[in-house]
Amino acid sequence: MTGELPGEAVRALSRARSLVALTGAGVSEESGIPTFRGGDGFWKGVRPEDLASPEGFARDPAMVWAWYASRVSAIRAARPNPAHDTLARLERRMRVTVVTQNVDGLHRDAGSATVLELHGSIRRVRCHRQGCRDGDGRFPDLPDGDDPPRCRCGERLRPDVVWFGEMLPEGILDAAGEALRGADIVLVAGTSSVVYPAAALPLAALEAGIPVLEVNPEETPLTPLATWSVRGLAGRVLPALREAADAEPGAS
Ligand code: OAD
Repeated sequence: MTGELPGEAVRALSRARSLVALTGAGVSEESGIPTFRGGDGFWKGVRPEDLASPEGFARDPAMVWAWYASRVSAIRAARPNPAHDTLARLERRMRVTVVTQNVDGLHRDAGSATVLELHGSIRRVRCHRQGCRDGDGRFPDLPDGDDPPRCRCGERLRPDVVWFGEMLPEGILDAAGEALRGADIVLVAGTSSVVYPAAALPLAALEAGIPVLEVNPEETPLTPLATWSVRGLAGRVLPALREAADAEPGAS
């Protein structure tokens, strides 16, 4: 960890009864899952819309399926890291809502009870036909090179994630907004804060007078606006924050 922990942020966390944590790919980086925009990120040297849009899927379903299948096997082998564990542990002392852009399911694996997955889950598949639920299920293991599977209705199955140009899961932004309104503090960890609508959530919190603490090894567009911003890895800074908050006199 490079940055000092801001004392005021530690005190705010120690007094908080309710926390919203907005997380992004950086939180899973220490579990061995690449981010999107980093030097070795998923989007390096590719056109994201070829792999993550309905149009890309229509053009080359086998390539899109193969890319998600390789991510699924990497994710199945991954374990939560101390950043995920810390958010789960914080539930012992306050209400915690995790609002995540990650599709890897590691927050649930760590034991977080309330996780709003803004961009869906890569562990599930669904039918590509709007409104059909016949294909809902676990992402299947298929031999390499096999055609992407079909739903019972005949349409293709696809990962249950949000692609560019698609709506977020119904009701999820309302649920995130409601959690935000009741939050004493908002923690934003491991996101480049460039993808909307997720990036708007901390801005709404700041507008409502709720303090926002950012944790990221790099500056982001949120950095100058956040109440506090700590440069460092989530897997180190989050446990340190929790320990420091626990050590505050009169911590709740
Ligand atoms: P990005 O790849 O855009 O950003 C990852 C952020 O994590 C960067 O700001 C890094 O500096 C930071 N980071 C890297 N390692 C870290 C660590 N160990 N601890 C803390 N921070 C670290 O990922 P997201 O912001 O999550 O959407 O991207 C948002 C969305 O863009 C994704 O959900 C995905 C992508 O297109 C869809 O696929 C719909």
